[in-house]
Amino acid sequence: MSNKLYTLITGASEGFGKALAIECASRKMNLILVALPESKLYFLANALMKKYKVEVTAIEMDLSQEENCLKVFKRIEEMNLQVNMLINNAGLGSTMLFKEGNLSFYQKQVKLNVMATTFMTHLFFDTLKRNGPSYILNVGSLCSFFYLMKKHVYGATKSYIYFFSKSLRRELKSENINVSVICPGPMNTNQSVISLNEANNWLTRMSTMNPEEVAPIALDGLLKRKEVIIPGQLNKVFLFIDTFLPEFIKKMITNHQMKNIRSVTAFGIK
Ligand SMILES: NC(=O)c1ccc[n+]([C@@H]2O[C@H](COP(=O)([O-])OP(=O)(O)OC[C@H]3O[C@@H](n4cnc5c(N)ncnc54)[C@H](OP(=O)(O)O)[C@@H]3O)[C@@H](O)[C@H]2O)c1
Repeated sequence: MSNKLYTLITGASEGFGKALAIECASRKMNLILVALPESKLYFLANALMKKYKVEVTAIEMDLSQEENCLKVFKRIEEMNLQVNMLINNAGLGSTMLFKEGNLSFYQKQVKLNVMATTFMTHLFFDTLKRNGPSYILNVGSLCSFFYLMKKHVYGATKSYIYFFSKSLRRELKSENINVSVICPGPMNTNQSVISLNEANNWLTRMSTMNPEEVAPIALDGLLKRKEVIIPGQLNKVFLFIDTFLPEFIKKMITNHQMKNIRSVTAFGIK
């Protein structure tokens, strides 16, 4: 058995996943990167290998199909790559009125954000246990703490991630596997999110971070075994204020914020 250890990152071709891949590589961590087919993943893998002299394997797979999670797992087993860090990052975002989304979009969102994270964690459980001390980082969202219009299904998937991570953490501690969840506020990841953030109110713009700023915070938090990682001072302030503001005031503020936001999915502004 090879004694090299690998970090597996889902959704690593773009946005936050790509920033995490670069951050890990700069810390000399070997990587397995997964993203959709034709996602320039091989190009990124080659660039990281050359620049940081680490081993990088790229696997193109649509993780919203459950059988593909198993295919990724089997491929990694066949290659005899030893994973000791799993970063469940792949996710489909959206900001839109419920009726603006169609069922196939919501189905894909739930499958990718919820089911793929659950499957990947289950599939890699024995591997992580064998290679301990091991780490799981689940990517949630700050919006899982608030009930926001236009964030219904997305927010619910991220609440699942938060609940799942915190519960699993209690169970896996004795297995020498640390589970952390990161809940970022808005990040300038893909073009549709960037233009949405730019068009947003000043408060959202002020709290928006670049994925390259968030990635080191994520990894530091994970390695320090933090339970919940909240990047950015302003996001921490939002959560603090949330603890004492009366419900009706919170509703007024968040409704006002969300009403004027344009609708956007991961596929572009509507
Ligand atoms: N951006 C934000 O403001 C924000 C805030 C809080 C939390 N988050 C969370 O952060 C994570 C990353 O978001 P992001 O904004 O960086 O997203 P992104 O820019 O859209 O990148 C998503 C990544 O996931 C991959 N991906 C998409 N669908 C996939 C599938 N079915 N199977 C495998 N890979 C797939 C994409 O590959 P392709 O390049 O091939 O499409 C890409 O590499 C998500 O979980 C999101 O919910 C984002």
